Amino acid sequence: MAFVVTENCIKCKFTDCVDVCPVDCFHEGPNFLVIDPDECIDCTLCEPECPANAIFAEDELPDGQEVFISLNAELAKLWPTITEVKSPMPEADDWNGKSDKIKLLER
Ligand code: SF4
Ligand code: F3S
Repeated sequence: MAFVVTENCIKCKFTDCVDVCPVDCFHEGPNFLVIDPDECIDCTLCEPECPANAIFAEDELPDGQEVFISLNAELAKLWPTITEVKSPMPEADDWNGKSDKIKLLER
C-alpha cells in the first residue's frame, strides 16, 4: 500500500507534506505533487500535514479519487523529486476545496 495525493492538491501545492517525508518520495509537477508508491513506506506522517487534506492512504480514498492511484504512480516516474518546502501556488487558499480540479492538472 502507499499514500496518495488527490485532487485537492491541484493549484494549491502547499508543500508542507515534503517537510515530513522520511524517504523523499514526493515528486513535483507544474501544479500538483505526487507520491511515488514504490518509495512510500506508509509512515502516515504526511497525511495530517496537508492544509488541503489531499493525502489519503490508498485504501481510504474518498469516492471518485481512485484515478489518483495510477496518476501518482505514473507522474512520479516523470517528475523530479521535491524535498524542501516552498511557497504555495498563487491563490492556493482560493482553490482549496474547489471541485472538479482534475481537468486543470498540468503535466
Ligand atoms: Fe512519505 Fe510517509 Fe507520506 Fe509515504 S506516508 S509519502 S513515506 S511521509
Ligand atoms: Fe499538495 Fe497538500 Fe502537499 S496541497 S503539496 S499534498 S501539503
